[in-house]
Amino acid sequence: MISLFRIKKTTYGTVTPITVDMHSHLLPGIDDGVQTFEQAITIVRRFANLGYKKLIITPHIMGDCYRNSPEIIWNKLDQLSDIVKQLGIDIQLEAAAEYYLDEFFMRKLECGEQLLTFGDHYLLFETSFINYSPYLEEAIFLMFANGYKPVLAHPERYAYLYGKFHKLEELYNKGVLMQINSNSLVGYYGPEAKTVAELLIERRIVSFIGSDCHREKHLDAHQKAQAVENYTKALSSNIILNNKL
Ligand SMILES: [Fe+2]
Repeated sequence: MISLFRIKKTTYGTVTPITVDMHSHLLPGIDDGVQTFEQAITIVRRFANLGYKKLIITPHIMGDCYRNSPEIIWNKLDQLSDIVKQLGIDIQLEAAAEYYLDEFFMRKLECGEQLLTFGDHYLLFETSFINYSPYLEEAIFLMFANGYKPVLAHPERYAYLYGKFHKLEELYNKGVLMQINSNSLVGYYGPEAKTVAELLIERRIVSFIGSDCHREKHLDAHQKAQAVENYTKALSSNIILNNKL
């Protein structure tokens, strides 16, 4: 007899794995990510072994501590790409940036400076983890006005938005794309970040999944995250754009 109380288990079938990562800090010595080419190569090789075909590396740009110019970023990218090629590691490297929402960023937007983007004019930005930024609305307006498609890095990590999920939905409804960190799904950044990441997936408003890899331990967590059900659920029920980059 078939039990009336059988638990319905959702399955997500087979999904196409992500082969393009679009958020990491693997250009040595220019932000809080890897500090040597040796460390960078170890991580790049591991990504290639996991089946990744392309890494879009996104160094921090912050007025207070990381005033990285496109020249600094491209120069490091060229050096790292040369080594990767010499070693025969089969992976493509590109670079953009992760802009911190501060006065430095606002000045760039206001004067129409050419900013570093990836794919179809996607512009990755982050805010303070703790405080709401008074620049947020104006920055979003200016990003659109300047022809960019804003992508909010790790929306699940902003403590000032905990308990205010509707604020993230409002941003999404304005056209701001959401990029969750894979590691949030294994609780790497704490239970609140995990809950918000899962809710973003549930509401189907995730557009990108990034590793935000700064060092090897992030990649260890990323590998674990790839095995959890919510990662598969994100790939099957959200429109994830990574592989189109
Ligand atoms: Fe990052």
